[in-house]
Amino acid sequence: METLFIIKPDAVGKGVAALITKRIQEKGFRIIDSKTLKLSEQEAGEFYSIHKGKPFYDELVDFMTSGEIVVLRLEREDAVRYLREVVGATNPSNANPGTIRKDFGTSVCTNAVHASDSDENAKREIAFFFKK
Ligand code: CDP
Ligand code: MG
Repeated sequence: METLFIIKPDAVGKGVAALITKRIQEKGFRIIDSKTLKLSEQEAGEFYSIHKGKPFYDELVDFMTSGEIVVLRLEREDAVRYLREVVGATNPSNANPGTIRKDFGTSVCTNAVHASDSDENAKREIAFFFKK
């Protein structure tokens, strides 16, 4: 089973992308593919199209286009559910100790990482970045 993981511009900018990647590997995820890139406004809008119209949408698109991101295609048993557990709650203040967002996130927007929330969305998000 596969899922999509993104190290967001706040974490890449702080230089903790390698540290986060190491943690993911220690949790048993295998990296199938990866790339570092900067999203255009249009690409970020398309990736987060399910949130269009929500109060945080514009801030989210601004943030996600503010710097480079690292995108990882990951494989593991129970990948989608387990990665969400390892990542923690959307708001780092509500995230459990030991989760990536608790340790690296600084606000509900700048929460360090993205993880697909369902098998269906994982497929869509992997195709968005990796399938030609
Ligand atoms: O990323 P996750 O699936 O946990 O949360 P989401 O509800 O799908 O929201 C996507 C992203 O929008 C979050 O990861 C945050 O970066 C941002 N967001 C925000 O800035 N303010 C909120 N109230 C909710 C989400
Ligand atoms: Mg989500």
